[in-house]
Amino acid sequence: MSGCPFMGNKYLYKFSKLSLKDEKGDKSQEGINKASKGGLIYGDYLQLNKILNAQELQSEKKGNKIHDEHLFIVTHQAYELWFKQILWELDSVRVIFQNGHVRDERNMLKVITRMSRISMILKLLVEQFSVLETMTALDFFDFRDYLSPASGFQSLQFRLLENKIGVPQSLRVPYNRRHYRDNFKGEDYELLLKSEQEPTLLQLVEAWLERTPGLEAEGFDFWGQFEVNILKGLEEEFAIVQAKPESEEKEDLLSEFQKQKDTLLSLFDEKRHEHLLSKGERRLSYKALKGALMIYFYREEPRFQVPFQLLTSLMDIDVLMTKWRYNHVCMVHRMIGSKAGTGGSSGYQYLRSTVRLVAAKNFSTFTLTGTIPEL
Ligand code: HEM
Repeated sequence: MSGCPFMGNKYLYKFSKLSLKDEKGDKSQEGINKASKGGLIYGDYLQLNKILNAQELQSEKKGNKIHDEHLFIVTHQAYELWFKQILWELDSVRVIFQNGHVRDERNMLKVITRMSRISMILKLLVEQFSVLETMTALDFFDFRDYLSPASGFQSLQFRLLENKIGVPQSLRVPYNRRHYRDNFKGEDYELLLKSEQEPTLLQLVEAWLERTPGLEAEGFDFWGQFEVNILKGLEEEFAIVQAKPESEEKEDLLSEFQKQKDTLLSLFDEKRHEHLLSKGERRLSYKALKGALMIYFYREEPRFQVPFQLLTSLMDIDVLMTKWRYNHVCMVHRMIGSKAGTGGSSGYQYLRSTVRLVAAKNFSTFTLTGTIPEL
């Protein structure tokens, strides 16, 4: 007898009802076969003849066909297609901000939908490395030499993505002491130059945050009120810790409290903010940071719900870019250990320094990632 051993016989009847044979009035085969009447067809619409014939194995060309090189090529191509979609969304969002259309709240929904889409794609890309990791380091070594000197370092779209989000040149890790653009020529070089000169998403969001309603309003002084609340909260917390009996635990709590106090009070120190900004450790202007904090604290107010969603998806994107770098470097270590990259960098060491810089400086970050959770 067939059937699921965990469900017992009582479900067998229901399963048999699902069978196509028994179903009266089955509509699944109804309809007209439009495809047979000519017109645009699936493969042509998607230009599959180009995409599906674009997997040229270098190993095969050199007379030593290695099975896993196909996976390696398809994985990279899939990444590049998704990078293209991200850039497509990102460019459209930048246009909305740039043209001032973001002031019309109806456009904000479009912005949020697209930013969330970017973060969904990035989630997929962070996970996608695991498919490539089904290839062993030894399998990779069978065809690795055939790739040289090609390298992901030459990915134009990845660099455009970094630039358009807002990775500044001053915070890039040099690659063999050379500018990253030196790896590109002609039209690609021009595109990169242009992407460095255009307003980045970070700059556009910064300008938008600086206009947060309520920051300048007479009658309601968010920043002043915020400072009063923070100071009051600190006083209350200090009183609770101070009332505890002398012990090692109390000392730990006091030192923890002091750290938190320093962080919070630093928010009201504009000079300190400017200093951190100049070192690349904060990325938003003081005024924009105030706007972001206001949105964060009043996120339940109807007018701030949508801006809050936008800030959340920006932070998601930041974190996911870092996770992408992290998963990539882990995979690289697994595949080539400490060997130099095909592109000629120190490989793992170079990539690890890019992840470190991200962590230390909020590399492509909207600063909030490092600021808000501490509050
Ligand atoms: C076996 C798999 C992989 C290995 C061993 C590998 C190795 C490396 C190495 C060593 C570098 C440093 C540059 C160099 O010297 O070549 C690099 C950079 C890079 N790779 Fe990969 N990679 C792999 C897969 C991928 C995939 C699937 C992508 C997806 C597009 C990718 C995208 C990149 C990018 C964008 C960079 C530049 C990163 C930066 O400079 O911050 N890599 N890769």
